[in-house]
Amino acid sequence: MGRVIAVANQKGGVGKTTTAINLASSFAAAEVNSLLVDCDPQSNASSGLGLAKDAQRISTYHLLMGAAAPEESLQPTVLEQLWLIPAHKNLIGANIELVDAEAREFRLRNALASLRDRFQFIVLDCPPALDLLTLNALVAADTVLIPMQAEYFALEGISELLDTVERIRASFNPALAIEGVLLTMYDDRTSLAKQVTAELKKFFGSKLCETWVPRNIRLAEAPSHGKPALLYDVRSKGAESYIRLAKEIINHYLAEEAPVEIDQPA
Ligand SMILES: Nc1ncnc2c1ncn2[C@@H]1O[C@H](COP(=O)(O)OP(=O)(O)O)[C@@H](O)[C@H]1O
Ligand SMILES: [Mg+2]
Repeated sequence: MGRVIAVANQKGGVGKTTTAINLASSFAAAEVNSLLVDCDPQSNASSGLGLAKDAQRISTYHLLMGAAAPEESLQPTVLEQLWLIPAHKNLIGANIELVDAEAREFRLRNALASLRDRFQFIVLDCPPALDLLTLNALVAADTVLIPMQAEYFALEGISELLDTVERIRASFNPALAIEGVLLTMYDDRTSLAKQVTAELKKFFGSKLCETWVPRNIRLAEAPSHGKPALLYDVRSKGAESYIRLAKEIINHYLAEEAPVEIDQPA
């Protein structure tokens, strides 16, 4: 059964979409079937994988509104083992239209249920808000991956997100776990970055991902070519870091699944 990872942080511009595209692509390149679900009306994950805007195309909006079957919404991508459920700006409407709807927090979870057997990883790219769309993603997810920049007030911004995760655990999704906190656009030469990293390590412990993502121009250029970084420039530091992150997460997953080996006398 696949693992659903929501990439969330209510702050904009911290690297959620870059992480969602490149992590999902790195899973696919590691030859596991992966699905990227664009949950943001800005649709940057969809355009970043080369999909032109099309209001008629079946998208996350239709899934949330129960207007299409999940299988119909899958789009192939430039990578053989990566599929995409795209978004369109009409997704803004779902936030409003769902307010009085039945099971409004469970729409995405229910829609993805039938797809979980087909994909080893399902990555959800969240909008920069703690709105009903992000709520749906966190209720649908097994884990949340939090990209953040090593800034002085980094921890302050994160407490609201952690409170939300707690509330969702208490009311809708008791199994929701933190996949990790990922440092993005990182510059390891500055002493501020080092200080903040030490703070984060103290606060998050092993939840701080060992992999960090450097500031790398290739990551910013790749979406305008409709490609993940590993197809645009596989040797770039940016592409390499997301390949490493995918391995880190796959290894956690394998460690959980693997039976503990005990040496027993014959
Ligand atoms: N590691 C990085 N190095 C350089 N630019 C980056 C990096 N990560 C993201 N960016 C750029 O920063 C901007 C915001 O990133 P994005 O992933 O869209 O953030 P979010 O989805 O959280 O709003 C984008 O223009 C993106 O190309
Ligand atoms: Mg984004």
